[in-house]
Amino acid sequence: MKKSQQIQNWYSQDNMTISEFKNHFKKALSELYTDSEAAFLSSIFVEKITGFDSFHQRRFSEQPLLTDDEKKLLNVISELKTNKPYQHILGETEFYGMSFFVNENVLIPRPETEELLELVIRKVQNSLFNVQNLKILDIGTGSGVIPLVLKKHFPETQITSIDFSEKALEVAQKNADFHQLDIKFVHGDYLNFDLNENFDIIISNPPYIGTDEEKEIEHSVKGFEPMMALFSPTSDALIFYRKIAEDSKKYLNENGFLFLEINQKLGPETLELYRHDFTEAQLIKDLSENDRFIFGIK
Ligand SMILES: C[S@@+](CC[C@H](N)C(=O)[O-])C[C@H]1O[C@@H](n2cnc3c(N)ncnc32)[C@H](O)[C@@H]1O
Repeated sequence: MKKSQQIQNWYSQDNMTISEFKNHFKKALSELYTDSEAAFLSSIFVEKITGFDSFHQRRFSEQPLLTDDEKKLLNVISELKTNKPYQHILGETEFYGMSFFVNENVLIPRPETEELLELVIRKVQNSLFNVQNLKILDIGTGSGVIPLVLKKHFPETQITSIDFSEKALEVAQKNADFHQLDIKFVHGDYLNFDLNENFDIIISNPPYIGTDEEKEIEHSVKGFEPMMALFSPTSDALIFYRKIAEDSKKYLNENGFLFLEINQKLGPETLELYRHDFTEAQLIKDLSENDRFIFGIK
């Protein structure tokens, strides 16, 4: 339906207005969101469902919503009340200035991973690498945010991404198609995978919560995000980091770079795994001052 027809329909309906809906949204979700979070979220959902951007939402704030739109918007409130992440309801999220499809099969990419990518981009730009044909390996790709942001910045690189979840790889491929970027996605269990190929850069944000830490994780995370993305398969929270250290010896080229996102509680122990085989290995804090990344040069 054209926007002009929609506007006419809005005038003829006797439903909640946009402004009434936004107030209702704020009150109904006051235990979960602050007023400013509620204002931000209600505006995103009104735009998604009615097609009206923030200017038109203000312009037509006193017009009644279409019955169908009102129903969908009230349904959003019910879904949010169950603690479902808003990105899953929207089906998409913004990350590093790009839009990505997400669903219950992938981790919703976190702001710390944007920091990791900023670090990678800066280090690669300041390096002596010839980015043409630079070979990059990304372990545990999820929605594909890491390879896709890198490919967008360094189009001539060859990027391989591995994940054990076929459903996550479907989302990653959909994102690659949407952005028209070419990534080699491989399905496999990295912990039992022979890379058999050398890389210039290895990057990973693997599952890093030990099964013994499970109780500390919020219900909204545990209930809606894939367990395989969050938790190490054993009580050893460093199992992926040990395999990455072993593989780096064999499959990371001399002078190659390693970038890892890590469990903030295990900074020194994680760094220790890379001290011997790297000429340089450092622990880097995130913007909240937590030990969050490892950068190594072989
Ligand atoms: C913490 S998520 C990171 C997702 C994405 N890279 C990001 O930063 O948003 C970890 C990813 O590792 C994948 N994964 C878990 N176990 C794996 C395994 N044994 N082999 C390969 N990938 C695995 C999960 O499916 C998940 O997509």
